[in-house]
Amino acid sequence: MSEKIPLQERIIVALDVNSPEEAKAIVKKCESRCTFYKVGLQLFMGSWFETVDWLVDRGHKVMLDLKFFDIPETVKLAVQQVGDRGVSFATIHGNDPIIRAAVSARGDLRLLAVTVLTSFGEEDMRAMGMTGSVADLVYFRAKRALELGCDGVVSSGLEAEKLRQGLGEKLLIVTPGIRPGANIMDGDDDQQRIVTAGLALKNGANHVVVGRPITRAADPVAVIEEMQREILSACP
Ligand code: C5P
Repeated sequence: MSEKIPLQERIIVALDVNSPEEAKAIVKKCESRCTFYKVGLQLFMGSWFETVDWLVDRGHKVMLDLKFFDIPETVKLAVQQVGDRGVSFATIHGNDPIIRAAVSARGDLRLLAVTVLTSFGEEDMRAMGMTGSVADLVYFRAKRALELGCDGVVSSGLEAEKLRQGLGEKLLIVTPGIRPGANIMDGDDDQQRIVTAGLALKNGANHVVVGRPITRAADPVAVIEEMQREILSACP
């Protein structure tokens, strides 16, 4: 990742709503400041590519976050379908053959491997029968994804520093689990491995993914502006 990323592309706004109408209303509020948006499972299930195509036609960048996980041939063909839509980033996960198959079909699309969900903590790993630490698993998966030809990974801001130091500048690091302010945890939050936007960038992330702190704010533009100030001071 040697090119300089424009400030308006650093925050990827997660459009986690049910309908294209709601998604478009959020984009219209935010687009003077943010030009990169994420379409995930909730919105995609309701309207397939409608919002993706609208965003691309409007000149915005799109991260399609469907976290493809299936047998290699199916993942390869799914990645091919996305390749024709003008999407910038898509997410996948899985073992070596799955990642290799996805990489073989990506074209200009940048593929991000999901490492460990930011809603996961150590107890969740134990509950799934996994030993070791979240940090070690994230590092192991990121290293493998890079070796297999992925462009980057999705990881929390807590692991970004070790990834950047160990795996170099080429790895694209995209970080969800962003919460503003000093007291970033709210009692009902499902995210666990959280940091501020400024800390994520300082630790080496290239982009942050932010959903509810922007989309549920009374003044989304004010939240974006505050995060962009933090980003600028972390990454002038
Ligand atoms: O609302 P919030 O800021 O927590 O949204 C985070 C977004 O990032 C959600 O759309 C979620 O699906 C996504 N995401 C994540 N952790 C990952 C990958 C994606 O939270 N590892």
